[in-house]
Amino acid sequence: MKVWVNGTLQTHEPRAGQCLRTFLRELGWFGVKKGCDAGDCGACTILLDGEPIHSCLFPATRADGREVTTIEGLAQDGALHPVQEALLRAQGFQCGFCTAGMSITIASLNQAQRGDLGWAMKGNLCRCTGYRAIEDAVNKVAHVEGGDSGSLIGRNIQAPAAVGVVTGAVPYTLDVTMTGVLHMKLVRSPHAHARIVSIDRSDALKVPGVRAVLTHEDAPERLFSTARHELKANDPDDTRVFDDVVRFIGQRVAAVVADTAAAAEDGCRKLTVTYAVLAPVFDPEAAMRPGAPLLHGDKGPQSRIANAAANVVAEIHTHVGDVEAGFDEAAFIYEGTYETPRVQHASLETFSAIAWIDKSERLNIRSSTQVPFLTRRVLCEIYDLPADRVRVFCERVGGGFGGKQEMFVEDVVALAALHLRQPVQLEFTREEQFVATSTRHPMRVTVKAGAKKDGTLTALQLHVVSNTGAYGNHGPPVLFHACGECLGVYRCANKKIDGYAVYTNTLPSGAFRGYGLPQTNFAVEQAIDALARGLGIDPFDFRRRNIIRPGDAMVSHGLDPHDVEYGSYGLDQCLDLVEAAMRDGGGPEFSPEWRLGEGVALGMIDTVPPGGHFADTTIALRADGHYELTIGTAEFGNGTSTVHAQIAATILGTGIHQIALRQSDTDHGGHDTGAYGSTGTVVAGRATQLAAEALRQHVDALADASAEGRSALVSHANAKSDDERSAALATLAEAARNAQVDLSATGFDDGRPRSVAFNVHGFKIAVNRSTGEIRILRSVQAADAGTVINPMQCRGQVEGGVAQALGAALYEELILDEGGQVINPSFRNYHIPAWGDLPRTEVLFADTSDRLGPLGAKSMSESPYNPVAAALGNALAAATGVRFRSLPFRRDRIWAALQR
Ligand code: FES
Ligand code: FES
Repeated sequence: MKVWVNGTLQTHEPRAGQCLRTFLRELGWFGVKKGCDAGDCGACTILLDGEPIHSCLFPATRADGREVTTIEGLAQDGALHPVQEALLRAQGFQCGFCTAGMSITIASLNQAQRGDLGWAMKGNLCRCTGYRAIEDAVNKVAHVEGGDSGSLIGRNIQAPAAVGVVTGAVPYTLDVTMTGVLHMKLVRSPHAHARIVSIDRSDALKVPGVRAVLTHEDAPERLFSTARHELKANDPDDTRVFDDVVRFIGQRVAAVVADTAAAAEDGCRKLTVTYAVLAPVFDPEAAMRPGAPLLHGDKGPQSRIANAAANVVAEIHTHVGDVEAGFDEAAFIYEGTYETPRVQHASLETFSAIAWIDKSERLNIRSSTQVPFLTRRVLCEIYDLPADRVRVFCERVGGGFGGKQEMFVEDVVALAALHLRQPVQLEFTREEQFVATSTRHPMRVTVKAGAKKDGTLTALQLHVVSNTGAYGNHGPPVLFHACGECLGVYRCANKKIDGYAVYTNTLPSGAFRGYGLPQTNFAVEQAIDALARGLGIDPFDFRRRNIIRPGDAMVSHGLDPHDVEYGSYGLDQCLDLVEAAMRDGGGPEFSPEWRLGEGVALGMIDTVPPGGHFADTTIALRADGHYELTIGTAEFGNGTSTVHAQIAATILGTGIHQIALRQSDTDHGGHDTGAYGSTGTVVAGRATQLAAEALRQHVDALADASAEGRSALVSHANAKSDDERSAALATLAEAARNAQVDLSATGFDDGRPRSVAFNVHGFKIAVNRSTGEIRILRSVQAADAGTVINPMQCRGQVEGGVAQALGAALYEELILDEGGQVINPSFRNYHIPAWGDLPRTEVLFADTSDRLGPLGAKSMSESPYNPVAAALGNALAAATGVRFRSLPFRRDRIWAALQR
């Protein structure tokens, strides 16, 4: 077959049934991404004879004699395509995994299509941005600032990888050609609970190309948790690489490794597994009752399960004051039970990893992970390997949102590579991503709250049942966090919490943006609203009367070490900003069948997880006139690499392009706990600040002692371009060599003490009584992010968090049938917000500077999500008089409730 790809003639025969997407990738055009392989996401979009198509749906043979343009071919004659330029100037991306397909579609739009972008772009999904920044790119709105030196704090500096992202040159996990790589596919359990009696591999091994079948008989007995935390004690050790008991539909049972993915799939079909089916339990309250089937009854205390005999992995029972006396004092009491469903991160890049043994007998893992260092640690434990025999690293990661704070692929590719001594690759399908990774913990939260006539809170009580699924990864810390800041933000003398994280035979829950707080915030912030309305007090004023102020203790369950301080406080400003925005302006006229309502909710979050979060950073001046900054934290669209470069360049008084980043590789730098809990800016950023400050001192000392060094710094200060700056720094490096001075420094931060960040969200909505439709007329979020180091990026984080939360509030829900099987494991049936689904959110920042954060900054990746569903629930209650206590607020549910 002959096909012209980006102007180059390619003469290769596709395999039978091969789609154009995999054909192009095998030719090395890695800008053609995979998000679904089902025509739903647009990550694989290319131009075929000038027309955009989803290449995953297109048979490769039909491209014979035709012209294909991928993102790599969009730029012409060395100049970026106008769409690439626009995306660069607007920074219309975060992780960038969607950008290639997005750019191709945008490049093909005609004027009429540009007039209805929601329709024209419905085939391209982005999970990170909320689409606003991409739309700005389409409309040629620029956000990136010029001038890349001087103080870079508070400026919209372009991401270091920006050009690579918009041209498709930045590699993601599987964007690499590796000779002799084998492909792995996994056999998964069809039963929610069963013991494996036998596995017959003989037929599978007869499939041509199949090299190995790996089962529990080949896997170490050692128990671990897929969750990755600095403190091992945070999660129970309840998981094996392969177990002889399966506890949810979709659990891995065996791996087939073969020369091709097709042969591995065929091998999977030929494997015969005999199961002895066990009774399952799906409801967490039923699972706690005596006589319920036990999921981990075989585990001892070393697994750190709170009560394996009742399926309880963790529980909290705590109180301050006397909650009953508090309710006696109250003039008005509200009580309600709220339910939040299973929702998924749906990062566009699915889990993937490649493992190989190198010439020096070291195990290497290239993975889509947020936690390379902690993954290496657990791999060393599982396979009894010393740390210097294992390297884990990631390239750019295509979205994470907490989901990649787990080890779902690295352990099994490591097993195969150690077994076969050949490179082995595993890439999850979108279906596997939905049925076999993790989700947000579904929770049932009963909240009871009482207040005096004047609105003073007298009692707050929470009862939480969290469904951790079949394994306890993140179960305990999510429960603790869920019960923390949502109550801690209110000044109230009497509080009581009872909480349980419970095993069931469903797919495991895990870490997800907000880490438990979105679920409890949904309940608590609606209870606060109900109290305010019940007492006839404005919800803003009710909150002002009761929120904590600097000097107040932050009291919730009181089980965490008390290391949280008011690094700065902007909650009052956030309330004022949202209230003012909501009062501002009118709106369209609606017919009487529409009811209008407004709602507000707030959220507080500790800026760092408890118990220590560590980051080592190194910075050194290289002979080529660049400062090499080595950090451990990963870049998955959170923008931390830009922030680190801004911090280092500002402190060293140089240009942003003089900072060369090396990151997320256990072979480079010291240790980094990982890019989770919003710590990339706060913890690793502080380590970068300390390293840069120490290096600045060395540089200044050199200038004092050496005329050559002094003169190099004068040249650097007078430099008019990057080239001149780099030349001056190269001279400085030479002066250091001549003076035998080491121009390198390290920084370390342990994430303590911790600060608090705040977010307030407001909605103005219209609800149609006849159809249940919700229209969002105004969406405003105010954030206390401390000093905003890169406003464009920080705004993007807020918009992305709000977009993801709106998806969860309005329609996202992973649905299980009565047998525990996920019935909507695709983007077609699990609908994440598309371009036309989202309102614009106005983002406002409080004016604060955090004394604990790097150069005054706070974290702002997770917290924007937390108040969104409650604010929408409060607006719905105001509009309809009905309080909706279950998510999502689907139109059919709203309609049915309004008919009642
Ligand atoms: S990978 Fe082709 S549409 Fe998703
Ligand atoms: S930037 Fe669009 S999916 Fe990440």
